Amino acid sequence: MSYRTHNCGELCKKDIGKEVILSGWIQTIRNLGSLIFIDLRDYFGTIQLIFSKKLKKQVLELGREFLIKVNGTVVKRKSKNCNLPTGEIEILVYKLDVLNSSPIPPFMIEDETDEEEGCRMKYRYLDIRRNAIKNNLILRHKISLEIRNFLSKNGFLEIETPVLINHTSEGARSFIVPSRMHSGKFYALSQSPQLFKQLLMIGGIDKYFQIVKCFRDEDSRSDRQIEFTQIDCEMAFVEVHDILFFFENFIKYLFKKIKNIQLEPFTLMTYSDAIKMYGTDTPDLRFEIRFVDLNDLVKKQVFKSFQTTKELIIGINISKCSHYTCDQIYSIIEWMKKKQGAQEIFWIKFFPDKTWISSNKKNDENLMNIIQHFEANPGDLLFILLGNKPTEINQLSQLRIEMANKLKMRKPKLFKPLWIIDLPLFEWDEKSKRYKSFHHPFTSPKKEDLHLLEKFPENIRSKSYDLIINGVEIGSGSIRIHDKNIQNLIFKHLGFSIKKIKSEFGFITKAFEYGTPPHGGIAFGLDRLITILEGKENIKDFIAFPKNNEGIDLMVNSPSYLNREKLKEIHL
Ligand code: AMO
Repeated sequence: MSYRTHNCGELCKKDIGKEVILSGWIQTIRNLGSLIFIDLRDYFGTIQLIFSKKLKKQVLELGREFLIKVNGTVVKRKSKNCNLPTGEIEILVYKLDVLNSSPIPPFMIEDETDEEEGCRMKYRYLDIRRNAIKNNLILRHKISLEIRNFLSKNGFLEIETPVLINHTSEGARSFIVPSRMHSGKFYALSQSPQLFKQLLMIGGIDKYFQIVKCFRDEDSRSDRQIEFTQIDCEMAFVEVHDILFFFENFIKYLFKKIKNIQLEPFTLMTYSDAIKMYGTDTPDLRFEIRFVDLNDLVKKQVFKSFQTTKELIIGINISKCSHYTCDQIYSIIEWMKKKQGAQEIFWIKFFPDKTWISSNKKNDENLMNIIQHFEANPGDLLFILLGNKPTEINQLSQLRIEMANKLKMRKPKLFKPLWIIDLPLFEWDEKSKRYKSFHHPFTSPKKEDLHLLEKFPENIRSKSYDLIINGVEIGSGSIRIHDKNIQNLIFKHLGFSIKKIKSEFGFITKAFEYGTPPHGGIAFGLDRLITILEGKENIKDFIAFPKNNEGIDLMVNSPSYLNREKLKEIHL
């Protein structure tokens, strides 16, 4: 028996007259009395079937998503459907077999669905029948192939590294796996192959890559999953510029191959400039709204409006928006206060006739100086945020995004890649009252900043880089420390005891003794990269079986409880 001679997407006008066998799922049934139509769907496409009266009784027993096999003749369709590649023909069915029945599906299997995500996740196998998800998986396959092609052609070797490793106290939270064979001992699931790829460099491998699952016990959100995939890379004998050059070409290659998009040269920006100009190290450069620093101006001059002791006075200029009504502006200010926690925020409308009004009732003639400092054009709307902590500038960064969203400036088909370099080596952690690695403890400091180690460790810049596309961190990496003395110095400044260094990182410090080559690398988030390529935001749509934002797989209902016996077996 043969299930099919053709698939549901390949037949066209030139096949008219052919006898065919097709198998597929029923998308829709239309009963017009004397004739019944069925849209039949398989992996490849959809085709219309037409049933004569003779088969009516049998057809009326069918339902949506029944799997059927039909024998029929390809005939010309009376009313063409230009939206369907097979829209000029239909199959006149003379034999029908039901291969499998189906209950009524919980949602319509159609390209556009407004079904809530939870239901789609629970019945993910049905969701995958939708073109929207199926095509994303096809795209994922294609991009993985291109990644392997490009990297292999350039001398990279794909090498698998262990998933079951040891827990370390650095980085994100790990998933812990109890050992059955070693009572009281635990593995941790790898958060990334970081140390192993460095060990491969010590092992003399010149260029490594791996498309690899990583596991992090952290809160999920639209661009974050607890298990996700990295394109993890490492190269020996490289400096920052080698990595940026090579991987810029790599990303350009993928955009060209997959989307036929020729990317412009990537913008290069230091971390401190990014914070100064955009209030974030992941700025979206699809729109040109930059921060204006008003600190000096306000402090030097007496403004009735800004009699403040606040240390941070910054603003943004929203071009051509002075027509915003007071109600519109009020709702923006309320959003800033309630959602972002802003305490003092002002606005100025600079009208096309060069008059202005501001949120402050006091008539402040000096305000014109501020407008000039903004280099505002008549017709612009200005927001000014007053705050204390440098972290509050993030609030203005959120406003920048909010306004760009309102003004539809974040175009999904526009791509603005950006390298952020010179990220800090350390950041202060208020909770543990110690410095933590901004990236990870193996990141190399910039040599010229090492003298700051004792007095101003937070000012040390590292040889690190992030790739940002449209405001999303797509990749991150660094040149690593390959000198064991510097590595030990960094461990010391991170507050690690000799015991901790030995127990958590003993194997790597030992390996560092054996002629470690200079090396560096980067890891890209594959799920994020594909999502961005498609101009979308939700990485779940590009993962076959994702977890929801609570880390639950609604389909298999994982995580789940273990019974006593199983717990005993793993010594818990
Ligand atoms: P990092 O932790 O920055 O670096 O991760 C690299 C890239 O992986 C992606 N990513 C994620 N994607 C989805 N869900 C998550 N939970 C998630 N976490 C990270 C991001 C990020 O830029 N070992 C280092 C890399 C290196 O130094 O070479 C590392 O893992 O796109």
